[in-house]
Amino acid sequence: MDPPYNTEATKNDGNSVANDKENINSNKFIYRDKYSRNGWLNFMNERLRLAKKLLKDDGVIFVSIDDSEQAYLKVLMDEIFGEENFVANLNWVKKHGPGGNTSFNYSIVKNTEYILVYSKNIEKKVFNYNKHNDKDLKKLGYTNKDEYFNERGYYKLTDLHHPSSTGSFQYIESLDYLIEAPDKTKFKIYQNIIKPKSARYTWGYDTYLEGKKLGFIEVLKNNEGFWVAKRKQYEKVKFDPKIKNIVKIDAGQPFENIIDNFYSSEGGSEIKNIFSDKNKFDFPKPSNLIKYITNLASQNKNIRILDFFAGSGTTGHAVLELNKEDGGNRTFTLVTNNENNIGIDVNYERLYRINHGFGTNNESFEWSKKNEPYKANLNVYSMDYIDISPFSNVDTKEIIKELIKVLNDFGVNNLNQENDFDIKELLNSLLSLKPQVKEQRE
Ligand SMILES: C[S@@+](CC[C@H](N)C(=O)[O-])C[C@H]1O[C@@H](n2cnc3c(N)ncnc32)[C@H](O)[C@@H]1O
Repeated sequence: MDPPYNTEATKNDGNSVANDKENINSNKFIYRDKYSRNGWLNFMNERLRLAKKLLKDDGVIFVSIDDSEQAYLKVLMDEIFGEENFVANLNWVKKHGPGGNTSFNYSIVKNTEYILVYSKNIEKKVFNYNKHNDKDLKKLGYTNKDEYFNERGYYKLTDLHHPSSTGSFQYIESLDYLIEAPDKTKFKIYQNIIKPKSARYTWGYDTYLEGKKLGFIEVLKNNEGFWVAKRKQYEKVKFDPKIKNIVKIDAGQPFENIIDNFYSSEGGSEIKNIFSDKNKFDFPKPSNLIKYITNLASQNKNIRILDFFAGSGTTGHAVLELNKEDGGNRTFTLVTNNENNIGIDVNYERLYRINHGFGTNNESFEWSKKNEPYKANLNVYSMDYIDISPFSNVDTKEIIKELIKVLNDFGVNNLNQENDFDIKELLNSLLSLKPQVKEQRE
């Protein structure tokens, strides 16, 4: 999610608590980029708590933010998701160079924004990893071939031992076992000969034996003439020490917390290519950035994605493109308010255009000259805010009519409209989900 960053407020009045006029009913907030800090945190608090409920057990949430509120959002999210579920604060390099600040002013140009990442349950969350391409593989030393080449690809060698420390790799006698060299002599870890207890093997002896049997061990002499045991890391398979067996993989490495390939200007160009007007929406994210984090989030190509600050609909665009590229079936739900009619004029129109290849009034546009429309199956729903507090003057019949319309929109058609008892029941239970309390204020 990509909420309003509250930049204006922090710039002008430093978010003083005394300015906390909005801390009344966060449901009623219209979009501004200028809440008092308490107001903004209150607004985020409600939405993040709901988002947590909607997440699957192995789900993950990404929240964009800049320096104005990053520290406060981090504390809020620690409280809601638990510090133990904090994954990373991704640093997105949104531009390089001083931008408009070309005059020398003894200041520091801020070229990064952040994306806070929390899992619902860190124990259950498995992220994707960066698969190496052929060039990376060569550079990283995947250049050796053996008799398993057809199934396993090239391999590189890594020490089977690790320097021992007081941390997680403490020296243990049993992890300094004897290994047989090709000349049938037996050797121990050579570092320990030079400096006792300075290294240990990373696999237990049984794991080593199994790994050796399956061809994952090579023993060779180093430059100083000592025998050294090495693990083979292949391109296409790995030896999993937990199950002591071979697992298929694509060699790679974890994603890092720095993103420096997609810049904010690309977001503007995308809007221009779709609407012929760069100013149709301010500060859209580049769809490549959202594609990148969607891919990073999971190897599963059927995940479900929710963005409830959807703005110009970049997330939808990114997911459609990623599915097209990798044959995935990811689905998404975008929610936006309709301030300045952006819900209809920008979000809906953008998705319509890239999906059909022409606008709602049959307009042609730049993007469709170079891209095929996605032709995905998209549903659109409209939502209304109705004040249902006990003291409001809303006609219940009107609400019920609206509710029937909404339910019909969602495919619920079998409600008895003659006798509206069903609906009233449903309405009552919906209302009881969140009792309305009228605040008494002086
Ligand atoms: C920073 S923008 C998101 C931009 C989006 N990521 C994109 O690439 O187009 C924040 C968006 O949240 C919307 N917004 C603000 N308050 C909202 C609310 N209470 N409910 C839903 N959307 C809201 C704003 O209209 C704005 O479009």
